[in-house]
Amino acid sequence: MGRAFAVMNQKGGVGKSTITVNLAAVTADVLGGESGDPEATSPVAAVSIDPQGSAVWWAARLNELPFHIVQAHDDLDGLRKLPHLPGIDHVYVDTPGWIDLSEDGTSGDPLGRGEAADALRAVLDVVEFVLVPMTTEPLSFDPTAQTIRKVIEPRGIPYLVVINNWDPRDGTADLDQTKEFVRANKWPLAKTVIRRYKIHARASADGLTVTEYPANRVAMQAREDFYKLALELQVGGGR
Ligand SMILES: Nc1ncnc2c1ncn2[C@@H]1O[C@H](COP(=O)(O)OP(=O)(O)O)[C@@H](O)[C@H]1O
Ligand SMILES: [Mg+2]
Repeated sequence: MGRAFAVMNQKGGVGKSTITVNLAAVTADVLGGESGDPEATSPVAAVSIDPQGSAVWWAARLNELPFHIVQAHDDLDGLRKLPHLPGIDHVYVDTPGWIDLSEDGTSGDPLGRGEAADALRAVLDVVEFVLVPMTTEPLSFDPTAQTIRKVIEPRGIPYLVVINNWDPRDGTADLDQTKEFVRANKWPLAKTVIRRYKIHARASADGLTVTEYPANRVAMQAREDFYKLALELQVGGGR
Protein backbone atom coordinates (compact mmCIF):
# COMPACT_ATOMS: atom_id res chain seq x y z
CA MET A 1 0.00 0.00 0.00
CA GLY A 2 1.26 3.47 -0.86
CA ARG A 3 1.43 6.50 1.35
CA ALA A 4 -1.08 9.18 0.33
CA PHE A 5 -0.68 12.75 1.60
CA ALA A 6 -2.91 15.73 0.91
CA VAL A 7 -1.69 19.31 0.85
CA MET A 8 -4.42 21.56 2.05
CA ASN A 9 -5.33 25.07 3.18
CA GLN A 10 -8.42 26.98 2.15
CA LYS A 11 -6.26 30.07 1.68
CA GLY A 12 -4.96 30.47 -1.87
CA GLY A 13 -1.37 31.37 -2.55
CA VAL A 14 0.16 29.68 0.50
CA GLY A 15 2.11 27.19 -1.62
CA LYS A 16 -0.08 24.08 -1.84
CA SER A 17 0.67 23.44 -5.51
CA THR A 18 4.35 24.36 -5.13
CA ILE A 19 4.76 21.94 -2.24
CA THR A 20 2.79 19.13 -3.88
CA VAL A 21 4.76 19.14 -7.07
CA ASN A 22 8.14 19.61 -5.44
CA LEU A 23 7.61 16.89 -2.85
CA ALA A 24 6.65 14.59 -5.71
CA ALA A 25 9.76 15.68 -7.59
CA VAL A 26 12.23 15.12 -4.75
CA THR A 27 10.57 11.82 -3.84
CA ALA A 28 10.87 10.66 -7.44
CA ASP A 29 14.46 11.94 -7.53
CA VAL A 30 15.49 9.82 -4.57
CA LEU A 31 13.18 6.82 -4.86
CA GLY A 32 12.12 6.84 -8.49
CA GLY A 33 12.82 3.94 -10.84
CA GLU A 34 15.64 1.44 -10.49
CA SER A 35 18.93 3.12 -11.14
CA GLY A 36 20.27 2.11 -14.53
CA ASP A 37 16.84 1.13 -15.80
CA PRO A 38 15.50 3.93 -17.96
CA GLU A 39 12.30 1.99 -18.55
CA ALA A 40 11.39 1.79 -14.89
CA THR A 41 8.27 3.78 -14.15
CA SER A 42 8.06 6.19 -11.27
CA PRO A 43 6.54 5.05 -7.96
CA VAL A 44 5.37 8.62 -7.32
CA ALA A 45 2.12 10.34 -8.30
CA ALA A 46 0.96 13.93 -7.91
CA VAL A 47 -2.80 14.24 -8.02
CA SER A 48 -4.91 17.32 -8.70
CA ILE A 49 -8.57 17.53 -7.83
CA ASP A 50 -8.99 21.03 -9.24
CA PRO A 51 -11.75 20.77 -11.89
CA GLN A 52 -9.79 23.31 -13.92
CA GLY A 53 -6.89 20.94 -14.46
CA SER A 54 -5.01 23.56 -16.41
CA ALA A 55 -5.05 25.77 -13.32
CA VAL A 56 -2.22 23.63 -11.99
CA TRP A 57 0.92 25.00 -13.54
CA TRP A 58 2.86 21.75 -13.71
CA ALA A 59 0.07 20.05 -15.67
CA ALA A 60 1.56 21.61 -18.80
CA ARG A 61 4.49 19.20 -18.60
CA LEU A 62 2.55 15.98 -18.20
CA ASN A 63 4.88 13.68 -20.07
CA GLU A 64 8.20 15.20 -19.10
CA LEU A 65 8.04 15.07 -15.33
CA PRO A 66 9.69 12.20 -13.45
CA PHE A 67 6.46 11.28 -11.68
CA HIS A 68 2.89 10.54 -12.68
CA ILE A 69 0.34 13.31 -12.82
CA VAL A 70 -3.24 12.35 -12.23
CA GLN A 71 -6.13 14.72 -12.88
CA ALA A 72 -8.89 13.14 -10.84
CA HIS A 73 -11.53 15.67 -9.85
CA ASP A 74 -14.28 13.67 -11.60
CA ASP A 75 -13.09 10.18 -10.70
CA LEU A 76 -14.44 9.44 -7.23
CA ASP A 77 -13.75 5.72 -7.53
CA GLY A 78 -10.18 6.43 -8.56
CA LEU A 79 -9.72 8.83 -5.65
CA ARG A 80 -10.97 6.25 -3.18
CA LYS A 81 -8.26 3.87 -4.42
CA LEU A 82 -5.41 6.39 -4.24
CA PRO A 83 -3.34 4.45 -1.72
CA HIS A 84 -3.73 1.33 -3.88
CA LEU A 85 -2.59 2.55 -7.30
CA PRO A 86 -0.56 -0.25 -8.87
CA GLY A 87 3.16 0.43 -8.68
CA ILE A 88 2.72 3.72 -6.80
CA ASP A 89 4.20 4.08 -3.31
CA HIS A 90 3.90 7.84 -2.82
CA VAL A 91 0.88 9.96 -3.63
CA TYR A 92 0.64 13.72 -3.09
CA VAL A 93 -2.75 15.34 -3.58
CA ASP A 94 -2.96 19.05 -4.37
CA THR A 95 -6.24 20.61 -3.30
CA PRO A 96 -7.74 23.91 -4.44
CA GLY A 97 -8.51 26.33 -1.66
CA TRP A 98 -12.02 27.29 -2.60
CA ILE A 99 -13.83 24.00 -2.02
CA ASP A 100 -16.80 24.32 0.32
CA LEU A 101 -17.37 20.98 2.00
CA SER A 102 -20.97 21.85 2.82
CA GLU A 103 -21.80 21.32 -0.87
CA ASP A 104 -22.33 17.97 -2.52
CA GLY A 105 -22.53 16.62 -6.04
CA THR A 106 -26.31 16.43 -6.06
CA SER A 107 -26.67 20.20 -5.82
CA GLY A 108 -26.46 20.56 -9.59
CA ASP A 109 -24.31 23.64 -9.22
CA PRO A 110 -23.12 24.51 -12.74
CA LEU A 111 -19.69 25.58 -11.49
CA GLY A 112 -19.00 22.07 -10.21
CA ARG A 113 -18.59 23.11 -6.61
CA GLY A 114 -20.54 20.11 -5.40
CA GLU A 115 -18.41 17.69 -7.38
CA ALA A 116 -15.28 19.37 -6.06
CA ALA A 117 -16.52 18.89 -2.51
CA ASP A 118 -17.24 15.21 -3.23
CA ALA A 119 -13.71 14.80 -4.59
CA LEU A 120 -12.17 16.47 -1.54
CA ARG A 121 -14.19 14.28 0.82
CA ALA A 122 -13.05 11.17 -1.05
CA VAL A 123 -9.43 12.33 -0.69
CA LEU A 124 -9.82 13.04 3.02
CA ASP A 125 -11.22 9.54 3.48
CA VAL A 126 -8.09 7.87 2.16
CA VAL A 127 -5.08 10.05 2.94
CA GLU A 128 -3.04 9.09 5.95
CA PHE A 129 -1.68 12.57 6.49
CA VAL A 130 -2.34 16.21 5.64
CA LEU A 131 0.29 18.87 5.17
CA VAL A 132 -0.99 22.38 5.89
CA PRO A 133 1.15 25.12 4.39
CA MET A 134 0.78 28.64 5.70
CA THR A 135 2.70 31.86 5.24
CA THR A 136 3.93 34.39 7.75
CA GLU A 137 1.27 36.87 6.63
CA PRO A 138 -1.40 37.31 9.30
CA LEU A 139 -3.96 37.01 6.48
CA SER A 140 -3.17 33.30 6.30
CA PHE A 141 -3.77 32.70 10.03
CA ASP A 142 -7.55 32.54 10.11
CA PRO A 143 -8.03 30.37 6.99
CA THR A 144 -5.40 28.00 8.37
CA ALA A 145 -7.30 27.74 11.65
CA GLN A 146 -10.57 27.10 9.79
CA THR A 147 -8.97 24.39 7.66
CA ILE A 148 -7.55 22.60 10.67
CA ARG A 149 -10.53 22.95 13.00
CA LYS A 150 -13.35 22.38 10.55
CA VAL A 151 -11.89 19.93 8.07
CA ILE A 152 -8.85 18.09 9.38
CA GLU A 153 -9.28 17.68 13.14
CA PRO A 154 -12.92 16.49 13.02
CA ARG A 155 -11.76 13.62 10.81
CA GLY A 156 -8.89 12.72 13.09
CA ILE A 157 -6.33 12.84 10.29
CA PRO A 158 -2.74 13.45 11.45
CA TYR A 159 -1.38 16.71 10.08
CA LEU A 160 1.59 19.02 10.15
CA VAL A 161 1.70 22.77 9.56
CA VAL A 162 4.60 23.99 7.43
CA ILE A 163 5.57 27.62 7.11
CA ASN A 164 6.27 28.58 3.50
CA ASN A 165 7.48 31.65 1.68
CA TRP A 166 9.40 33.23 4.54
CA ASP A 167 12.01 35.70 3.36
CA PRO A 168 15.05 35.64 5.69
CA ARG A 169 15.91 39.18 4.59
CA ASP A 170 12.78 40.39 6.38
CA GLY A 171 14.20 39.32 9.73
CA THR A 172 12.61 36.82 12.09
CA ALA A 173 9.78 38.90 13.63
CA ASP A 174 7.06 37.62 11.27
CA LEU A 175 8.40 34.10 11.45
CA ASP A 176 8.44 34.16 15.26
CA GLN A 177 4.92 35.55 15.37
CA THR A 178 3.71 32.80 13.06
CA LYS A 179 5.41 30.09 15.10
CA GLU A 180 3.87 31.58 18.23
CA PHE A 181 0.41 31.46 16.64
CA VAL A 182 0.87 27.79 15.72
CA ARG A 183 2.19 26.96 19.19
CA ALA A 184 -0.68 28.78 20.90
CA ASN A 185 -3.08 26.59 18.92
CA LYS A 186 -1.09 23.47 19.85
CA TRP A 187 -0.74 22.46 16.20
CA PRO A 188 2.19 20.29 15.17
CA LEU A 189 4.69 22.45 13.26
CA ALA A 190 7.33 21.28 10.82
CA LYS A 191 10.89 22.18 11.78
CA THR A 192 11.53 22.89 8.14
CA VAL A 193 10.63 26.40 7.01
CA ILE A 194 10.43 26.80 3.25
CA ARG A 195 12.14 30.04 2.43
CA ARG A 196 11.09 32.47 -0.25
CA TYR A 197 13.25 32.37 -3.32
CA LYS A 198 12.53 34.12 -6.58
CA ILE A 199 13.50 30.97 -8.42
CA HIS A 200 10.47 29.14 -7.01
CA ALA A 201 8.08 31.71 -8.44
CA ARG A 202 9.94 31.76 -11.73
CA ALA A 203 9.98 27.96 -11.88
CA SER A 204 6.23 27.75 -11.46
CA ALA A 205 5.83 30.09 -14.42
CA ASP A 206 8.14 27.83 -16.44
CA GLY A 207 6.61 24.56 -15.19
CA LEU A 208 9.90 23.45 -13.62
CA THR A 209 10.37 21.51 -10.38
CA VAL A 210 13.20 21.99 -7.87
CA THR A 211 14.99 18.90 -9.19
CA GLU A 212 15.38 20.70 -12.49
CA TYR A 213 16.98 23.84 -11.05
CA PRO A 214 20.44 24.85 -12.22
CA ALA A 215 23.32 23.83 -9.98
CA ASN A 216 24.17 27.27 -8.67
CA ARG A 217 24.39 28.10 -4.99
CA VAL A 218 21.13 29.99 -4.61
CA ALA A 219 19.12 27.44 -6.56
CA MET A 220 20.59 24.64 -4.44
CA GLN A 221 19.63 26.47 -1.25
CA ALA A 222 16.11 26.94 -2.56
CA ARG A 223 15.88 23.29 -3.46
CA GLU A 224 17.29 22.13 -0.13
CA ASP A 225 14.15 23.15 1.77
CA PHE A 226 12.05 20.60 -0.11
CA TYR A 227 14.54 17.78 0.50
CA LYS A 228 14.52 18.75 4.18
CA LEU A 229 10.75 18.68 4.29
CA ALA A 230 10.68 15.26 2.63
CA LEU A 231 13.20 14.00 5.17
CA GLU A 232 11.13 15.38 8.01
CA LEU A 233 8.05 13.64 6.61
CA GLN A 234 10.07 10.42 6.56
CA VAL A 235 9.40 9.96 2.90
CA GLY A 236 10.87 6.61 2.01
CA GLY A 237 11.33 5.78 5.67
CA GLY A 238 11.07 2.21 6.87
CA ARG A 239 7.57 0.87 7.16
N1 LIG B 1 8.78 29.42 -1.15
C1 LIG B 1 8.39 30.18 -2.18
N2 LIG B 1 9.23 31.12 -2.70
C2 LIG B 1 8.84 31.90 -3.73
N3 LIG B 1 7.64 31.84 -4.32
C3 LIG B 1 6.76 30.93 -3.84
C4 LIG B 1 7.07 30.06 -2.76
N4 LIG B 1 5.99 29.28 -2.52
C5 LIG B 1 5.05 29.64 -3.42
N5 LIG B 1 5.50 30.63 -4.22
C6 LIG B 1 4.78 31.30 -5.30
O1 LIG B 1 3.57 31.83 -4.75
C7 LIG B 1 2.52 31.64 -5.65
C8 LIG B 1 1.42 30.82 -4.99
O2 LIG B 1 1.91 29.50 -4.77
P1 LIG B 1 0.99 28.22 -5.05
O3 LIG B 1 1.81 27.02 -4.82
O4 LIG B 1 0.33 28.34 -6.38
O5 LIG B 1 -0.11 28.41 -3.89
P2 LIG B 1 -1.52 27.66 -3.72
O6 LIG B 1 -1.48 26.39 -4.51
O7 LIG B 1 -1.66 27.45 -2.26
O8 LIG B 1 -2.56 28.63 -4.23
C9 LIG B 1 3.10 30.99 -6.89
O9 LIG B 1 3.40 32.00 -7.82
C10 LIG B 1 4.36 30.35 -6.39
O10 LIG B 1 5.35 30.26 -7.38
MG1 LIG C 1 -2.73 25.71 -6.05
